[in-house]
Amino acid sequence: MKGNVVIAGAGPGEIDHLTIGVFREIKQADVILYDALIRDSIVAEFPESCEQIFVGKRCGTHAYTQTMIIASLIEHALAGKRVLRLKGGDPSIFAHLASEIDALHALGIPLKILPGVSAMLAAAAELQVPLTTRGQSRHIWVSDGHADDIADNAEQMANFSGTLVFYMGAERCATIATCLAAHGLGASTPCALVENAGSHDAVLQRATLSELTAHRIARLTSGPGILLIGEALRTSNDHNKAYHALAAQF
Ligand SMILES: C[S@@+](CC[C@H](N)C(=O)[O-])C[C@H]1O[C@@H](n2cnc3c(N)ncnc32)[C@H](O)[C@@H]1O
Repeated sequence: MKGNVVIAGAGPGEIDHLTIGVFREIKQADVILYDALIRDSIVAEFPESCEQIFVGKRCGTHAYTQTMIIASLIEHALAGKRVLRLKGGDPSIFAHLASEIDALHALGIPLKILPGVSAMLAAAAELQVPLTTRGQSRHIWVSDGHADDIADNAEQMANFSGTLVFYMGAERCATIATCLAAHGLGASTPCALVENAGSHDAVLQRATLSELTAHRIARLTSGPGILLIGEALRTSNDHNKAYHALAAQF
C-alpha cells in the first residue's frame, strides 16, 4: 500500500509563522524530513512516535544530498508511511521543489503541497514596509543573489520599477549594490538587510544604496539573511503632518 508525501513550508523563523494546516500535518506524520532552517520551536512539536530525519546543512556539509532526500521520500512512501518534507519558508522558493515533484509524480505517489510564509514576507513585516506600493513599485523581482546572475541582469534590475529581493545574497550586499549603482540605480535608493526574519533574534539594518556600496552594512549574525532594495522600503515622513492633523481631531 502506498503512503503519501506532503511537502510543506514551515515559514521563516519561529513557530508563529507555521500555518495550522502544516501544524496538523506535523502531528499526523510518520516520517519528517526537515531542513536546517527549521527552528527548535517547530522541531519540538514533532510527535515522539514519528521518525525525524535531519536533511539540512551543518558545518558547511549537507547531511543528505538532494538525491538521497528523494530516495528517502520514495522509500518511506512506498512503505505506506505518511511522509512530511518540511522546508524553511515556502517550498516553491529556492527549495529544490521541482525535482521532488517530478520524482513523486513519476511514481504515482500521492502528493500534497502546502505553502509557507516566505522569508521576504517576514522581512517586510519586520521592517514595517510594503513590498509593493500603488503606482510606484508594482513588481517584485526575486533573485537568488548569486553573483553571476546579478552581473547578467544588473541593467534590468537597476531600471526595475519595483522591489528587488535577494535570497542568499546577504554576504554579497556590497557587490550587489555596486553592480546596481554602476548601472544607474539611484544612490539614495533604500535598502535593508534582514537577518533571522520572523524570529525573536531578528536583526534589521537599513541603508541607502550608496551606504551599501561603502560596506556600511555587514552580517551581524550567523543566521539566514535577506536583502531588499527599492523605493517601497522608503519610510516617508512626508505624510506625518497630515496624520498629526488627523489625530488632533480626536
Ligand atoms: C535556500 S533559501 C530558502 C528560502 C525559503 N524557501 C523561503 O521561502 O524563505 C535560503 C535563503 O532564504 C533566506 N531566508 C530564509 N529564512 C530566512 C529568515 N528567517 N530571515 C532572513 N532570510 C531568510 C536567506 O536568504 C537564505 O539564505
